[in-house]
Amino acid sequence: MNLKRNIVFVFLCLLLFAAPICRANSRPGKTVSFNQDWRFRLGDVAGVQDAGFDDSQWRQLDLPHDWSIEGEFSEQNPAGTGGGALPGGLGWYRKMFTVPATAKGKLIFIEFDGVYRNGEVWINGHYLGERPYGYSTFEYELTPYLVYGAQRNVIAVKVDNSQQPNSRWYSGSGIYRNVWLTTLDPVHVEHWGAYVTTPEVNEQSASVKVQTKVSNGSKSSAPVNLTTIIQDATGREVARAAERNVAAKGSHAEVSQTLSLSAPMLWSDDRPYVYKVISQLEQGGTVLDRYETPLGVRTFRFDVEKGFFLNGKPVKIRGTCNHHDLGSLGTAVNTRALERQLQLLKGMGVNGLRTSHNPPAPELLELADRMGFIVMDEAFDMWKIEKTKYDYHLDWDEWHKRDLEDMVLRDRNHPSVFIWSIGNEVVEQWNNNPLGGTISRELVGIVRNLDRTRPITSACNGVSRDNKVLSEGDLDLVGTNYAHRRLPEFAKMFPGRPIIGTETNSSLHTRGSYRMPSDDILRWPYKDAEALKISPTYECSAYDNSTANWGSAHEETWKLVKDHDFFSGMFIWTGWDYIGEPTPFPWPAISSYFGIIDLAGFPKDAYYFYQSEWTDKPMLHILPHWNWKPGETVDVVAYFNHADEVELFLNGRSQGKKRKENGEMHVFWRLPFESGVLKAVSRKDGREVLTDEVRTAEAPAKIVLAPDRRSLKADGADLSFVTVKVVDKKGTVVPAADNLIKFDVTGGSLAGVDNGNQISHESFKASQRRAFHGMALAIVKTKRKPGEIVLKATAGNLPPASVVLNAR
Ligand code: GAL
Repeated sequence: MNLKRNIVFVFLCLLLFAAPICRANSRPGKTVSFNQDWRFRLGDVAGVQDAGFDDSQWRQLDLPHDWSIEGEFSEQNPAGTGGGALPGGLGWYRKMFTVPATAKGKLIFIEFDGVYRNGEVWINGHYLGERPYGYSTFEYELTPYLVYGAQRNVIAVKVDNSQQPNSRWYSGSGIYRNVWLTTLDPVHVEHWGAYVTTPEVNEQSASVKVQTKVSNGSKSSAPVNLTTIIQDATGREVARAAERNVAAKGSHAEVSQTLSLSAPMLWSDDRPYVYKVISQLEQGGTVLDRYETPLGVRTFRFDVEKGFFLNGKPVKIRGTCNHHDLGSLGTAVNTRALERQLQLLKGMGVNGLRTSHNPPAPELLELADRMGFIVMDEAFDMWKIEKTKYDYHLDWDEWHKRDLEDMVLRDRNHPSVFIWSIGNEVVEQWNNNPLGGTISRELVGIVRNLDRTRPITSACNGVSRDNKVLSEGDLDLVGTNYAHRRLPEFAKMFPGRPIIGTETNSSLHTRGSYRMPSDDILRWPYKDAEALKISPTYECSAYDNSTANWGSAHEETWKLVKDHDFFSGMFIWTGWDYIGEPTPFPWPAISSYFGIIDLAGFPKDAYYFYQSEWTDKPMLHILPHWNWKPGETVDVVAYFNHADEVELFLNGRSQGKKRKENGEMHVFWRLPFESGVLKAVSRKDGREVLTDEVRTAEAPAKIVLAPDRRSLKADGADLSFVTVKVVDKKGTVVPAADNLIKFDVTGGSLAGVDNGNQISHESFKASQRRAFHGMALAIVKTKRKPGEIVLKATAGNLPPASVVLNAR
């Protein structure tokens, strides 16, 4: 039996039924989704912002929405392959809505979690403002411009992502994150108006300091009272503090309260316990606002010699960097898709995330709080000096303070956030540039002013004393990108300062592709032409023998990090493949090779390497597949744990037992290929622990559909990720299969298709996809109507397959 796959499955199920997410800075009932029924048009038109503009012919859609992912790949698209070779452009969104007359006297706000980029907003023809940075969350008050009752209001949003390139990776375009409408009483907690910290924590108790910004716009002189309640994860009240008369009529006030929790449950990466803080405002016996904030009680420090400590215990940060796209869904945020990404990362033992290189969607942090990730929240990929022609450096002078402040204000209550990063590999780090010192000092000051509970770093690949970001920038943590190969030097270079690997590895793999010998590490040249000479098929080997020449293979990296206590941990580039930056290849390659998991969500073999080192669950994985030429010499690698040896059998004949020796983290055999069954058996003290096997596949005989979930929410957003396998008559995946698979969905919709092939130009939104190395993915989305959803798949002469899902 293949226990490994079952373990991952059980683990995913457990997570799935975990507690619901607490949206940070939320007001249940008062903040509602504003995603439904927008109108959209690509291209500029005059007069769209006017209330009377006729948009009846425009396309109707629900947000979040990314229009770039719907476009065609082209070498001519100005984003270049770095940006995924998809189109940018300018688009308009409009939404009509009514506000009941009963809401007169209330204050109404619209909040955009993120608009890429240059979002400009109008309400009933009044200009509310612009936000150039595509990753900032922003809010406008609508109240003065609203009409009430049966009259219609109209919001118009112009999104301009036409100046390209402006990003080194695929950014997506549009209102790609959630939009919220909040209706408040004049007495309310202000936007991002609660700040929760835990100044003292020990086993017996924790003090919880809650600073609440209160606005009293009431016409009544009756006192406004603030009650702060802490609930445990089951919703039981565990602490309460009340303050009377906190803000006089017409005033704003900041109230500070300290509550005490006895025997606090601690938040950690393996037991992420989240409390809820409720800030309740009441006047004349009526509760006027209830504002909720998550709370995690934990202590941590970065020690110069011993690395990272969480709740007093040493913990290595085993993180991955990730960009924000969701593969074939583009950048349009979907909580289930994010959850799946994090579940797969957890399943390989990841406990850290770096939001490279920008503030993430709020939902990512909500999931990280609940699932136990140590997050490095990053602000920028560039400062004043450009990386691409039209990037944020153009907005730097006017906006950087506001964007950085807003990131900290929005995210500082998340227990998962442990580190602020003010930048990634900014150009100012090089050649003793004095700007490196002055800008980083300014940014550090901005962050410290709003939060002193977390260290500040900047991810630098210029790790030398000549880098003024590191040597003069007042950073708390020295952040190194790729310099981990020179680890011992750092300690001397920055004495007395803790160090973290803000970015490591940059290994390059294609799922299911193998170049031998497996022990010859290829450090890919950056020049596209040279890369093509090495691999005319645009594939990188999935043995751990392929890496960018500035990076390192997975095993060599982890050995270094594991062995140096002072190195607090690392964030691998990257957990998931992403669209864009197809290093080392030119067009037609359009998506990255760096991921440990491919773009479709299928693990590459390195996934199992980490599982063997980073998880405590017994596992065994052998590679490669078993379809080679007769007599061809094949390298077989096994990753395993909880065992002291692995024996390999080819068609029942032992090929020898192997143990990990000389610090190796895998075992391997070199043998001539013979078709049949290759089976590995791991043993501890002579007793069998697990087996894993690969079989020689015959011709494709059928399609197998395996949904990750069959029971879904009928909310118009929930997803089932259906793995599609092309197998032979015995059920073995055919490694070379590239059959074209056609999909048909009834009762729901097809949200995207993929196969992890880095050079495929098939549309992510088509109703068909070729298999790649025997596999493909179909993502099924629910409607807002309960019922049965059927996904059918056909592929030429193979018998059709179908699967039934249920939306409730
Ligand atoms: C780093 C950079 C990442 C990515 C990576 C690819 O230098 O910070 O954004 O480009 O290289 O190896």
